[in-house]
Amino acid sequence: MPEHSEPTALATASTPVRVIRAAAPDDLFTVTTIFAHYVASTLITFMETAPTTGEWRQKLDGIAERGLPFLVAEEDGEIVGFAYASPWRMQDAYRYTVENSVYLAPGRTGRGLGRALLTALLAACEAAGVRQVVAVIADCDNDASPALHRRLGFRDAGRLTAVGHKRGHWLDTLLMQLDLSGGSARPGGLGVPDGALGPEGPAAGA
Ligand SMILES: CC(C)(COP(=O)(O)OP(=O)(O)OC[C@H]1O[C@@H](n2cnc3c(N)ncnc32)[C@H](O)[C@@H]1OP(=O)(O)O)[C@@H](O)C(=O)NCCC(=O)NCCS
Repeated sequence: MPEHSEPTALATASTPVRVIRAAAPDDLFTVTTIFAHYVASTLITFMETAPTTGEWRQKLDGIAERGLPFLVAEEDGEIVGFAYASPWRMQDAYRYTVENSVYLAPGRTGRGLGRALLTALLAACEAAGVRQVVAVIADCDNDASPALHRRLGFRDAGRLTAVGHKRGHWLDTLLMQLDLSGGSARPGGLGVPDGALGPEGPAAGA
């Protein structure tokens, strides 16, 4: 497993014990519940039907097969948020670019948890050989998400106008992008098919 499987813990006398670690199948019921809240009650996600726990299992497995991170945050042993990186587009040449997602349980926002979770996710992406991270953010009075991404170095990359329609609202998406390549021309270590990039590509996935 990549480095992100090692949990990190942070606690002080006045704060809960916080652990950020790789997600496990047993975490997915809570992941399902957290995300279902945003599907049903907000415009933050464009999904209108919440995925089942079985569908989250398929996503977790697919992300793991690609060597990408799917992390959860625990506070005092309770799953209170999750973040994952998934392929940005399915065409082969996008193999070093991911889209990130981060969601906290309602009532757990605004206390630095999102920053901690996304920071850990980005570190895991970098370790996995990801070069570009794209955030697709619904423009729906959700100030926290653009603020969080800007804080962690994402740059504005454009706006798609009225591409979503949910609960009677036409919705724009803000695109934000983080360059993890450090200016290097060399591909990283993502688990891509052997030979997929030709002779200069990675001989084997990480
Ligand atoms: C978006 C989300 C993950 C951010 O996590 P969070 O724990 O609430 O944010 P943090 O407390 O870590 O704050 C991160 C930064 O954003 C800023 N920020 C947070 N909420 C903000 C708000 N409502 N308005 C403006 N800035 C905000 C903070 O000042 C902080 O900057 P700092 O570290 O320099 O002080 C969380 O609010 C969430 O899960 N929201 C609902 C789901 C969602 O929108 N997911 C993203 C989908 S693209």
